[in-house]
Amino acid sequence: MTSQPKPGAVRAVSQTAFTLRVNGEEYPLRTDARVTLLDALRDRLGLTGTKKGCDQGTCGACTVHVDGKRILSCLTLAAQCDGQEVTTIEGIGDESNLHPVQESFLKHDGFQCGYCTPGQIMSALALMSEGRAGTPEEIREYMSGNICRCGAYQNIVAAIQEAAGHHDAAL
Ligand code: FES
Ligand code: FES
Repeated sequence: MTSQPKPGAVRAVSQTAFTLRVNGEEYPLRTDARVTLLDALRDRLGLTGTKKGCDQGTCGACTVHVDGKRILSCLTLAAQCDGQEVTTIEGIGDESNLHPVQESFLKHDGFQCGYCTPGQIMSALALMSEGRAGTPEEIREYMSGNICRCGAYQNIVAAIQEAAGHHDAAL
């Protein structure tokens, strides 16, 4: 017969220790092994530029780079990134020193509410380094995992197309 946990009993949670390297800084962490990279970035490191939209891999708002490749941080365990180089929107540029892709999004009004924008920009950077930011059709296809509920798609494509023309726009 299976024994039932006693009422009020606390279930043991497996903890794991690892180091996240984010935007060039090292962060030693000890967390529940099931914590996602998204939650670790936002709740443990205070890097709230990366957004939580669906939390199930369908909107792209949580896109970051791990070892130079774009990934969905809501589908990635933080502990899996031990020893890897994580780059978030905070590592791209800041208000006093915007990245050319950020400049281009501003110039082309590539956002309205801005919630999807960090994920759009991280994906746009990946597109450029993958050599997938040629035609508007190609940009639309390879940006299709990044949903914009405000429907700013046309301006997002224009922003990426212009940024892709700059040699210094990719990471
Ligand atoms: Fe990760 Fe939507 S929050 S894909
Ligand atoms: Fe609002 Fe994209 S700008 S969701």
